[in-house]
Amino acid sequence: MIVMGIESSCDETGVGIVAWEPGTDGAPGRAVMLADEVASSVDEHARFGGVVPEIASRAHLEAIVPTMRRAREAAGIDRPDAIAVTIGPGLAGALLVGVAAAKAYALAWDVPLYAMNHLGGHVAVDTLEHGPMPECVALLVSGGHTHLLHVTDLAAPIVELGTTVDDAAGEAFDKVARLLDLGYPGGPALDRLATEGDPHAIAFPRGMTGPRDARYDFSFSGVKTAVARHVEKCRRDGVEVPMADVAASFQEAVADVLTLKAIRACTDLGVDTLVLGGGATANSRIRSLAGERCAAAGITLRVPTPRRCTDNGVMIATLGAHVIAGGAAPSPLTVATDPGLSV
Ligand code: KG4
Ligand code: ZN
Repeated sequence: MIVMGIESSCDETGVGIVAWEPGTDGAPGRAVMLADEVASSVDEHARFGGVVPEIASRAHLEAIVPTMRRAREAAGIDRPDAIAVTIGPGLAGALLVGVAAAKAYALAWDVPLYAMNHLGGHVAVDTLEHGPMPECVALLVSGGHTHLLHVTDLAAPIVELGTTVDDAAGEAFDKVARLLDLGYPGGPALDRLATEGDPHAIAFPRGMTGPRDARYDFSFSGVKTAVARHVEKCRRDGVEVPMADVAASFQEAVADVLTLKAIRACTDLGVDTLVLGGGATANSRIRSLAGERCAAAGITLRVPTPRRCTDNGVMIATLGAHVIAGGAAPSPLTVATDPGLSV
């Protein structure tokens, strides 16, 4: 069975193709990657300091058909046996482009269509590199989402343990990077600057870590505001902003809370695998602190290669293959996008 996955929930037009290899003698099956094509409109959003939905939608429109063609050529196939497509969560207009394309091709090729949740794709993609997924906790951090999930089986519904009550973690990185004039998206530049700073120089707040706070939810607006106040105060006092120390201390605060809650979820649930996903897991401190804390707690840490932590189509193809192999019924061609879809 060959599955094509289509992803257009944010600023990446992704089309991936996998082949499903069923397991033998009771062993779990696995998806094997045949193609992974991505066209990004990130450069077009740079001067606005964030993703502009209308620009993203128009870029998807231009990219979707050529990206599908490239993926089919790379996989050496005319048509897949099934199409899996992200229906949410994401930007409404952006999702519509991928879903409309998926429906049109499903109809033209007479192949079944399967509606996918973007978040599940971020977890499923790790199986391409690290094999079948045991029960796990997943921490997804990107410019658009911050979620803590409990996954028992990729073919089964996923349980959301917690999410952000305000900014996404990557969004907080981008906003703080902007305060420090590091450009957009500023996460990678902030990460680089932080290597020259002292992560303990400034005690920025750790949002929602108090005893009465929700155990698995996140808040990053407090730390972002604290950084803004710190920078303003330096400028007001005529003191040079200690850029590297601010970057390192902010990054430490975010990495601390993310990994603290992820390990807490694993411990509470008795789960011994943590999976990271989303573009912000490229952050060096989030990775190293997750590694340190998992090792100390006896938890196996799984992190896909950075290219597959960001949005792509092969993650949707991989999730689709698991869901189809699990016996799910196809979605009707009338299936709607769901920008606010939870897990
Ligand atoms: O998954 P992604 O490519 O797109 C979505 O937002 O869906 O994630 C991009 C986000 C941006 O906010 C970017 O600043 C952040 O991930 N990011 C990082 C790093 N690399 C990317 N944040 C912190 N440190 C990094 N090294
Ligand atoms: Zn994503």
